Amino acid sequence: MIEVRHASKRRGRRELWRDLSFDVDRGEVVALVGPSGAGKSTLLDCLGHIDTLDDGTIHLDGVTAGRSARRARRMRRRFLGYLFQDFGLVADMTVQANIDLARVPQRLAARRGLPTAEALDRVGLGGRATDRAHELSGGEQQRVALARLLAKQPEVILADEPTSALDGGNADMVLDLLCEFAADGAAVVIATHSAAVEARAVRTVSLSGPSD
Ligand SMILES: Nc1ncnc2c1ncn2[C@@H]1O[C@H](COP(=O)(O)OP(=O)(O)OP(=O)(O)O)[C@@H](O)[C@H]1O
Ligand SMILES: [Mg+2]
Repeated sequence: MIEVRHASKRRGRRELWRDLSFDVDRGEVVALVGPSGAGKSTLLDCLGHIDTLDDGTIHLDGVTAGRSARRARRMRRRFLGYLFQDFGLVADMTVQANIDLARVPQRLAARRGLPTAEALDRVGLGGRATDRAHELSGGEQQRVALARLLAKQPEVILADEPTSALDGGNADMVLDLLCEFAADGAAVVIATHSAAVEARAVRTVSLSGPSD
């Protein structure tokens, strides 16, 4: 599903990584590890088509956006779901509106997502649809972000330290659901410093940190 070939990325004069190649197939959870500043979040942004490589290629389902911003935008809508450490919700919008934001027009969607009420029930937040996102606890906000993925059913899920701000119970729930997305056929990449997350992954991609 995800094919990275000979990828390189610099920040200024520093090279974050060079000649990086790896695959993530449907059904796989892959952990992305490395010291702080190694470029994990930057690599997720490249996989998510919100940043570009300096060299190399990324294919999703055999398709590459190349240098085209328009194709990158289509790839984002068609394939991608994100889960962030800080949840990534719009604070002033209701839970329902945050979930509806992620919906893809049916003609573009590869898979039909869950209706909002069902997605919220699934993460234990039934009845909270009209609460504003900022009224929820951190664990609840991350569950809304998961409900958003359930509503979109993306084929590629990129998670940037999705459990690091959560207590054990909420962290386990997030990890369980990410593994379920994979079991349903998604390709899941999780940037993480957590040994518990790494233990659930089929493989690890290691970034060693920048060189000058
Ligand atoms: N927009 C940017 N412009 C310039 N430099 C940036 C930008 N974003 C990140 N960097 C730099 O790129 C390097 C990699 O950052 P990145 O956030 O990808 O690391 P990371 O592996 O995710 O680290 P952490 O584990 O702390 O989250 C860092 O040195 C950072 O300062
Ligand atoms: Mg990071």
